[in-house]
Amino acid sequence: MSALPSRVTIVEVGPRDGLQNEEATVPTDAKVAFIDRLSDSGLTHIEATAFVSPKAIPQLADAEEVCTRITRKPGVVYSALVPNIKGYGRATEGAELRDVAIFLSASETHNRRNIGCSVNEAFDRYREVAEAAERDGVRMRGYVSTAFGCPYEAHVPIDRVVDVSRRMLDLGVQQVSLGDTTGIGNPVQVARTVAALAEHTPVDTIALHLHDTRGTGLANALAGLQTGVTTFDASTGGLGGCPYAPGATGNVATDELVSMFEQMGVATGVDAEILLQSAEIVAAAIGREPPSRYLKATRATQARAREESA
Ligand code: COA
Ligand code: ZN
Repeated sequence: MSALPSRVTIVEVGPRDGLQNEEATVPTDAKVAFIDRLSDSGLTHIEATAFVSPKAIPQLADAEEVCTRITRKPGVVYSALVPNIKGYGRATEGAELRDVAIFLSASETHNRRNIGCSVNEAFDRYREVAEAAERDGVRMRGYVSTAFGCPYEAHVPIDRVVDVSRRMLDLGVQQVSLGDTTGIGNPVQVARTVAALAEHTPVDTIALHLHDTRGTGLANALAGLQTGVTTFDASTGGLGGCPYAPGATGNVATDELVSMFEQMGVATGVDAEILLQSAEIVAAAIGREPPSRYLKATRATQARAREESA
């Protein structure tokens, strides 16, 4: 096996991607408590919410309130998704964020269903956002959704992913995160896609945003790591689901990823126990067990140890 990176960065997307896909709307108080606990875990980047249309994603309609009520810990980047200049204004003026993420899909149909326009029109919208961000000194991250397959178009060619990603980078994003939106990618495909894009941009400008819908999340992360990727998006407790697959699990769980990487000798700087406590805050608020298997296994092992010592 080729040498692995010694350290990775995790971008915590649970408060946004996780909670937008939970059926129940999480109360604002619980979101704030969730993010504040996550801020103690050693994570350096937390995507706190999305400034999208509240009609599209009612679960995140309290975006301003969440951003103004959380305690921003020095050294932690707090970012949010913005779909257009209106979202950019809400995020940077209303909520005083200095980091935003723009997003579009590699496949036309998903893009249209998700943000109501073609991919080219999305680039036009984001040019406006990019100009404002440059003027304001705001950092931008870019998501390319459906990079490993689309629920409407199925196959998405690697050339297409590379092309859309390069256009994102040309717009001025510091990093492009390739999204396996519905968790249908496989490790060989992940490695090939990353390698193809890395011919055009340094590998540290490429992140992976993996979903565990079909149980391939960690395997895909390992394939990315072996191809040189050092930034991974994940959702604590595996919170979230998939709008296209009722009952399915959501993003790869941050705690599972952290636990696997640390055991492999790849440093994350993140305390897995604090992640579990963070997930439990949300779970208590919505009365649903988080999907993370690491959480279940850890709590069961601890309970057994307590019984044995009693
Ligand atoms: N924040 C709040 N409201 C917004 C908004 C934003 N960023 N952008 C647009 N709106 C409002 C408009 O003010 C308008 O309101 P009105 O009907 O009261 O006048 C309405 O939404 C329609 O605006 P329009 O510009 O025509 O947008 P649209 O209906 O074509 O929707 C998006 C486009 C991008 C705003 C919408 O599809 C969206 O928010 N999608 C997000 C999807 C998402 O988050 N998916 C998950 C993440 S991958
Ligand atoms: Zn996602």
